Amino acid sequence: MKALVLAGGRGTRLRPLTHTSAKQLVPVANKPVLYYGLEAIRQAGITSVGIVIGDTGHEIRDAVGDGSRFGLDVTYIPQEAPLGLAHCVLIAREFLADEPFVMYLGDNFLVDGITDLVDAFRLADHDAQILLTRVAEPQFYGVAEIGPGGEILGLEEKPEHPRSDLAIVGVYIFSPAIHGAVRAITPSARGELEITDAVTWLVANGFRVHSHLVSGYWKDTGRLQDMLECNRIVLERVEPANRGTVDDLSEITGRVVVEPGAVVENSILRGPIVIGADTKILSSYVGPFTSIGSGCLVCGAEIEYSIVLDGSSVQGVSRVAHSLIGRNVEVSRAAGVSNTHELMVGDHSRIQVRA
Ligand code: DAU
Repeated sequence: MKALVLAGGRGTRLRPLTHTSAKQLVPVANKPVLYYGLEAIRQAGITSVGIVIGDTGHEIRDAVGDGSRFGLDVTYIPQEAPLGLAHCVLIAREFLADEPFVMYLGDNFLVDGITDLVDAFRLADHDAQILLTRVAEPQFYGVAEIGPGGEILGLEEKPEHPRSDLAIVGVYIFSPAIHGAVRAITPSARGELEITDAVTWLVANGFRVHSHLVSGYWKDTGRLQDMLECNRIVLERVEPANRGTVDDLSEITGRVVVEPGAVVENSILRGPIVIGADTKILSSYVGPFTSIGSGCLVCGAEIEYSIVLDGSSVQGVSRVAHSLIGRNVEVSRAAGVSNTHELMVGDHSRIQVRA
C-alpha cells in the first residue's frame, strides 16, 4: 500500500499566516501539522509516500526532504494549480501505479492515527473507505447521508443545507478503482475536481464503498479555533521535560516542556505548555494550552490558550488569549499613550482588542 499526501492548495482560511507559507506547516505543539500525518502513515506500515505540492512546494521540500527522517521514501508530485483533491489523484497516477493507497489531506489531524483503519482496509474487500465524524457545522465540509444499514445514500461537498451532521474526514483509502472515477467526473461549480464526486461515482457504478464513523479526535486545522483545539489536545499528552534553564523565582505546574537554550526567569508557567528552543520568558505568566515557538521573547506579559510562532515577541501586555501569532511578530504596549492601540498589521489579519 502507498500513501498520497496532499500538501498543495491555498490556505485562505488561516490567512495571513498561510498567505505565502504552507498551511500544512503551521505548528501544533511546536511541530508542523504535516509531520503528525507522516508519522501516522509510517506507523501504519506504509513507507512509499507521494506528496502533492503547489506554490509553497519549496517549503514542504525543505521541511520533509527525502522523508528518511520519518522512515519514508518520499516522491514529490507538483500540481500546477489547486484544481481539486481528485485532480491530485489524476496527476499521481504513475506514482500510485496499481496499488491501493491512503489519501491523507496534509492539514488534517487524527489523534489516534490511521493504523487500525489501514489494517481494516487490508482485510476487507472494499474499493474505497471513507471516514465520517459528527460535526457542529457540516456546511464547511463534505457531508455524507447514510442509510439505516450504514450504506452511503449521497455525498455533497460543502452543501448550503446539509442533509446530516456527518462530515467527511480528510483520510481516505482507495483501491485502483478510483482512477476510473477521477477520469469520469467533471469540475464542480467551484472549478475543482472533487474527490466527493469521485466517491459518489464509485457508489453509483456499483463499487464497494465503506464508511466508517470516527469516534476519536479529528480536526481539519484550516481554521483558528480548530488549530487552537488541536494544539490543546496534543499539549494534554506531552511528556513534561526541562531542557532549558528555569530560575528559582519561577513556578511551574502541570505538563511543561522547556526546550534547550530556553530561559525562564521570575515567571509562572501553568501547563500544558511548550516553550521552544532559545526562547526567553521573563517576569511573565504563561497559561494552559500555549505553544511558544523558538527564538521568542515573552517579557512582562500574560498569555494563555495561544500559539506563537518562531521569532516573535510579546512584551508588557496583559492577558493575550485565544490567539495565533505568526512568525517574527512584535506585540507590545503603546508607549506613554493611555487607551490607545497602535497597530501595524499585515493584510487579512484579525485583531480583537478590549473596547
Ligand atoms: O478536511 C476535510 C475536508 O477536506 C472534507 O470534508 C472535504 O470533503 C474535502 O473536500 C476537503 O475540504 P477542504 O476545503 O478542507 O479542502 P482543502 O482545499 O483545504 O484541501 C485539503 C488539503 O489538500 C490541503 O492540505 C491542501 C491540499 N490540496 C487541496 C486542493 C484543492 C492540494 O494539494 N491540491 C488541491 O488541488
